[in-house]
Parts: sequence; structure tokens; C-alpha cells
Amino acid sequence: MSAQAEATHDPWDGSIAGYGTYRLVEPVLRERDLHAIMALCERVGTYRMASAEMSSTEIGAGLPERFECFYDLARQRGNENDKPYDPTHVDWLDFERAFTCQFRETYADLAFVARDESRHPEADSLLYHEAFVAGARDLLDRPVIVPVAVLANLYVAGQWLGPHTDITEFRGVNRSTTPQWLLICMHHSRLFDEWRLPIATAVNFFNVCEGGEFRFYPDGPGGAPVTAPQRPNTALLMDTDSIYHEVRPIYDPEGLPAPLERGQVLRFGDDRKWRVVGSDGAVVGTYGWDEMRFSVSWKAYCFRDETERQTWSDRSNDLTIEFITGRLTEDLMDRGLLGSPNPDNVTLARAIVDAYYHAPPVEYH
Ligand SMILES: [Fe+2]
Repeated sequence: MSAQAEATHDPWDGSIAGYGTYRLVEPVLRERDLHAIMALCERVGTYRMASAEMSSTEIGAGLPERFECFYDLARQRGNENDKPYDPTHVDWLDFERAFTCQFRETYADLAFVARDESRHPEADSLLYHEAFVAGARDLLDRPVIVPVAVLANLYVAGQWLGPHTDITEFRGVNRSTTPQWLLICMHHSRLFDEWRLPIATAVNFFNVCEGGEFRFYPDGPGGAPVTAPQRPNTALLMDTDSIYHEVRPIYDPEGLPAPLERGQVLRFGDDRKWRVVGSDGAVVGTYGWDEMRFSVSWKAYCFRDETERQTWSDRSNDLTIEFITGRLTEDLMDRGLLGSPNPDNVTLARAIVDAYYHAPPVEYH
């Protein structure tokens, strides 16, 4: 933490409750810092949807970045043998609404922005939160905690997020070079543990509305889910790359899903209303703060020691895509889950998701 950050923020005086694989932090922020975050949320004012891009790499060609979620949906509906997986597929709109239409903005990202160039200093109270750093050290049993990001998420009435795990990072490969579904399945395969960088995530609940509960599966996808307390200014700290989690539908009086489609944006207006606006400028929906869910995710890299941190930084011992596909193919062949050592990319992708990715059942609207 910089001297400036230490000087501007009073010591935190809340509590951390331990529950095996997760921690509950409460309260997260003092009144002053909480007001600053809420004001920041409004001032940033424009939130875009998570990407619904198609991957352009060889192994991901023609597949959505979150293919594991899409294929899981198709599999549950008996459509797993359909081809190709593209926006004309019968399940595509449901997939987008469940997994890629969430509104978000980055408040801090130290992977790309130097400390002194903090985009939004109001987010420093979260980025350098001492309970998150101490909790991550304890929870993941790794002493070197490096906060890297503060990410805002907004949901409107009728919106939700299906069960998933977050995007894992490995030495030498990340989401700019490797499809997101592959990174996620690599982690669940456990075949690349020695290259994985554990990431601690604190999910902060700031604006709590009716519905929109954060539900997670600390005992695995087949275990009993746990629902986070619906109290503002609390946070759950856990490894969201490993623990499946979801956001249940925000209450809508008609019980309908929000009319969301790719390319819309969410804007805060002078009348203090949130509006979903289509790419043609038309307003699709208008929402008061009482119909909104606002959460912020804090993320930190967790290293065993300074040497491991250095290895991460200097790019030594990096993975390559050839090594990854070779190792996965070998494991799938050994387990009789792949008929040929040189399958086409869709066959390989489906075999990988079938073998390693098993999310809790999705409850669609
Ligand atoms: Fe997540």
C-alpha cells in the first residue's frame, strides 16, 4: 500500500467471519468511503455488457468465449449435438441473457494501469482493503497478496447470472491469447495446477434489492448451495475460480426476464434513473435504484513467495497452447473420451467441457 493510500484511509474496524472455504467481511466500508463508492457508481454512469465475442484462436474458432456455459445449456436441453455453436442457435438468446448480458465497468485494473494512474481513487478503499488482503492470505494460505482489480457489476429487474466459475489465470496464457472457456476447463481438469495463479475474489454487496441473491456452492456443484446475507456493505471472500456461484433473478413484478440483448448499455440519468439503451438509442427499460443490484468484485493474485511472484513477472516457465492441447488430448484419450488424437476444434472443445466442466443445474426463467 502506498503512503498516500495509508494516509487517506482510516484503519478498518469491521469483522471477518471464517467458514471453511469462504469468509464474510462486515461492514466493508466506513460511511464516508461507502458514499464515495455509490457516488462513483453514479458518476461513471455508463456500463457495458460483458463480451459476447467469438474466439478467433485456432482451438476456439467459431465458439463463444464462454463456450463452457453455452455448451452446458445446450447439453441440459438435449441440444449438445447441434452444430455450429453460433448466434443462430435456438439457445443463443437464453445463453446471452444468462451469461454475457451483465452490465459492468472496471474501476481499477493494475494489470494495465500503474498505481499512480488510478482511474478512480474512490476505489482505493476497496483495492487496498486490509481485511481482503488479510483474509486472502489466510484463506488461500499464500502470504504474498497483490490486489489487481476492482470491477463493478450492475443488474436490473428481471436480470440474473447463471452458475459459473470465473476465468482462471495461468503462467503464459490469459484471456487475451486463449479462449475463456479453455482457461476455465484447464483449471477444473487440475492438469495445470503447477502453472495456475490462485486469485482471491471479494464480492461486495452495496445496493441490495429484492431478489438478486448471490448463491454459491462451497462443497462443489453437487453440494448444498449457500446464499449470501442480503445486507448492504458486506462482502464474501472466496476463490471464485474454483467455487461455482450465481446471481438469482432480481425481482420483477411481472416475473419476466429483463429484455436484454447484446450491445445495449446501461446509463444513469440526471433524474437518478437507470436506463437500458439499445444500439439504436431506444430506451428498453427504466429502473429506480430500488430495482437495481450493485456489486463490486475485488481481485488479487496470491503468491507463495516473492520468487513465485517474480517467476510470474519475468515470464519464465510459461505454458504454450501446444502443450495445453497436447496434455488435454492425452488425458482425454487415456480416459476413452476422445476417439482420435487429432480431432477438429469443435469435437475437442466439446470433449473438454464434457470431461471437466460440470456446473450446478441452471434454472432458467
Ligand atoms: Fe463470477
